[in-house]
Amino acid sequence: MIASFEYCYNELLDIFFLFAFSSHHLYIYSLCHFLPILFKGCDASVLLNSKGNNKAEKDGPPNISLHAFYVIDKAKKALEAKCPGVVSCADILALAARDAVYLSGGPKWDVPKGRKDGRTSKAIETRQLPAPTFNISQLQQSFSQRALSAKDLVALSGGHTLGFSHCSSFRNRIQNFNATHDVDPSLNPSFATKLKSICPKKNQAKNAGATMDPSSTAFDNTYYKLILQQNALFSSDQALLDSPKTKYFVSKFAASQKAFYDAFAKSMIKMSSINGGQEVRKDCRKIN
Ligand code: HEM
Repeated sequence: MIASFEYCYNELLDIFFLFAFSSHHLYIYSLCHFLPILFKGCDASVLLNSKGNNKAEKDGPPNISLHAFYVIDKAKKALEAKCPGVVSCADILALAARDAVYLSGGPKWDVPKGRKDGRTSKAIETRQLPAPTFNISQLQQSFSQRALSAKDLVALSGGHTLGFSHCSSFRNRIQNFNATHDVDPSLNPSFATKLKSICPKKNQAKNAGATMDPSSTAFDNTYYKLILQQNALFSSDQALLDSPKTKYFVSKFAASQKAFYDAFAKSMIKMSSINGGQEVRKDCRKIN
């Protein structure tokens, strides 16, 4: 007998609570899959392994810091034992992201279910992902191509309230910024000095970097306050002050955590409903 949809999703919640959330990595993992899904559709193609000559998305440069795939593998394995072929890897990711935000103190929202998993994954497609060096018009263009507004851009960038970044993602701002400035003039000078000491030009530790904000395990609105103080890590974060519309939402979310939570939940539903998959994978790392 095929287990019912509802039964299987309840099983998934139990499984998350049994072991996934005991892992500190899950929230980081599931949140940073947002960016790949945004630009490819929420079809879990980012979980597929490279095979033969095909280098998969997860091995493309912007996704190199994605980790803790084992957490999703464990959830999928336990689920398949009870509910074979019902819950897609894409739905597992979307639900994990939702619960991870909630368990970090953030908002909760209803995740529409029934996504299918994709059958292709190409590293080259990660080139379409926005880069941390993007300016405001490049960011707005990337988001509007996916029917996401300026408000969605500012709200979703708030995902940078959690987690960690390697030096390579913000090095452009602290060394050889342009012909006239070594350091990005839109970066607070004392913050720039701190980042330079963490990321020296020479003898830098392999995993060196900085947390996205000082409260990097709490889903709060500190990120927007940092932007207003010119203490945001990426050019793409600071750039949100460079258009009147995005600046308005930065100020709004800095002033009201509730306004941020409401907007984030709405934008997440919008973003994660972009889906183009074809199957429910048995193993999240391989197509059926
Ligand atoms: C606006 C376009 C975006 C750009 C350019 C961008 C860029 C980046 C970069 C470069 C990193 C650091 C990678 C590293 O050095 O290890 C990062 C990390 C992260 N991003 Fe984004 N991102 C964007 C949007 C988003 C969205 C929409 C979310 C979620 C809603 C998100 C959530 C995260 C999280 C949680 C991390 C931390 C990952 C970790 O700790 O390993 N980002 N992002």
